[in-house]
Amino acid sequence: MNSIEPGNFIDLRSDTVTRPTPAMRRAMADAPVGDDVYGEDPTVNALQERVAALLGKEAALWVPTGTMANQLALGVLVGLGEEVVCERGAHVVNYEGGAISALWGAQSLVIDGERGIFEPAALERVLRRSDDIHAPLQKAVAVENTHNRGGGSVWPLEKLRAVAALCRAEKLAVHLDGARLWNAHIASGVKLSDYGACADTVSVALSKGLGAPAGSLVASTRERVAKMRRLRKRLGGGMRQVGILAAAGAYALDHHLARLAEDHAAARALAESLGALPGFRCVPPETNILLIDLPMPASALVAAARAEGVLCSAVSPTRIRLVTHLDVPPDAVAEAARRLRRAAAC
Ligand SMILES: Cc1ncc(COP(=O)(O)O)c(C=O)c1O
Repeated sequence: MNSIEPGNFIDLRSDTVTRPTPAMRRAMADAPVGDDVYGEDPTVNALQERVAALLGKEAALWVPTGTMANQLALGVLVGLGEEVVCERGAHVVNYEGGAISALWGAQSLVIDGERGIFEPAALERVLRRSDDIHAPLQKAVAVENTHNRGGGSVWPLEKLRAVAALCRAEKLAVHLDGARLWNAHIASGVKLSDYGACADTVSVALSKGLGAPAGSLVASTRERVAKMRRLRKRLGGGMRQVGILAAAGAYALDHHLARLAEDHAAARALAESLGALPGFRCVPPETNILLIDLPMPASALVAAARAEGVLCSAVSPTRIRLVTHLDVPPDAVAEAARRLRRAAAC
């Protein structure tokens, strides 16, 4: 774990800000590598097999970012004039540059959920079951676990299974944006493969809570992964001796997966401390993301927090987001709470 020097910024903007630890850097330096476009990087191949097995899928593909992982999956599930149903706050709709339409010529239909988790009935209401020639062809449903904008919320397995069963009955594919599926797994104790069984394609990120500097994987059937490999090349995501980065991911799976529980405990500790401030309303954190509704403009608190040495994000005019991660050790959590309480008093 990296340490935070007293007096330095405590960065709670995102779990993407982690830096590779010295041991992770050594694992990267020592990794055997080859040309991954030729499929010859042994470290990448081993990681792909490992993650496919964890998710209960036939195959997986390493890609540089979570956005590419999601979009390769959607690229094999939807096409021109077709439709993917997502929850309103979904990352694939709000934070991927309009890629669903820009890359695949498909449209998204958003439905409402509670903290990003929607009821099967909400999906049922928007199903297009007719052969009406006016309608787009509905092809897929995307779910996000944990849900970023929902405050790191975890899909209850039974609800996810019910959505998956409905999709199967309606011949709709399911994509699971599992950028933080690791957090869901650690928080709930549900096996990664049980989540995986609810989806046709699954993306997972190595560069968020796990602390690798880059990399995501997307898993599915061998056939779909072969198609995604082609799309990855088309998008310029075919990289060469990328085992150096895959080694960071393998190291992270060995050493940083179980410790995500510490991040979850840290988010709860922050909620307990800051929730006691007058007018502060914390959305109870289920994993490592804490949303707080404020009695003041979020921009004012973000600025005051920065002046106290804590970085956090405004996610609405009156809501901030704090994300705990590998680079926020337990003593820094208590220090962050102290600094944020001072900032709130400004
Ligand atoms: C839920 C979710 N999906 C996908 C991504 C995209 O990951 P990347 O930033 O690696 O493209 C993010 C990034 O924060 C995310 O939170």
